[in-house]
Amino acid sequence: MFARKASGEEMLRLWGYRDGEEPSPTARFFRDNIASGNADFWTMDHNGELIGELYTFRDIPEDRDFADGKTTAYLCAFRIREDFRGQGLGTRLMETVLASLKTEGFRRATIGVGPEEEQNVRLYRRMGFTGKVKDCYMDPCAMDEYMRPRADDCYWLLAKDL
Ligand SMILES: CC(C)(COP(=O)(O)OP(=O)(O)OC[C@H]1O[C@@H](n2cnc3c(N)ncnc32)[C@H](O)[C@@H]1OP(=O)(O)O)[C@@H](O)C(=O)NCCC(=O)NCCS
Repeated sequence: MFARKASGEEMLRLWGYRDGEEPSPTARFFRDNIASGNADFWTMDHNGELIGELYTFRDIPEDRDFADGKTTAYLCAFRIREDFRGQGLGTRLMETVLASLKTEGFRRATIGVGPEEEQNVRLYRRMGFTGKVKDCYMDPCAMDEYMRPRADDCYWLLAKDL
């Protein structure tokens, strides 16, 4: 089991798309940002099977508090397959991703979490996301049919110095 970067095509397969199937606006947004080099898709590889995901965005032009292309990068869509949770794999994946961002020269990472997601809030605090940037009401990486960021329930944008 090891952490690695993966391609936009691998992301689409993980999200359940078959070859040639038209992706949703959000899936297109992720795929295109990975292709352009603005985003990375990190995964846990278990004998060739992808059992986790965590995405990094270098720049979020709609709101530079999330990511500004230089010092701050945004992390999102963090998930470990249910039957592999609670074994430290999410922590390992996160540590690998944060180390890679630091090597690239980023000095801060941000991540969103709903205030009601107590387990995740605790996990992120333990991982060092102790600063709260602000309350958010828009998800800059979830697109509507016009490729505009979708409104979202209130969630916190947390930050960690790298
Ligand atoms: C959040 C997540 C990626 C963590 O991955 P993981 O491999 O289980 O994490 P670790 O084993 O390194 O750490 C375990 C911690 O994860 C958190 N956690 C959240 N949901 C969990 C679950 N169903 N099972 C086990 N741990 C969970 C807990 O805080 C736990 O810490 P605790 O033992 O103090 O309660 C994973 O639980 C997950 O995919 N959850 C569903 C998707 C999600 O909510 N993503 C985050 C918001 S986008």
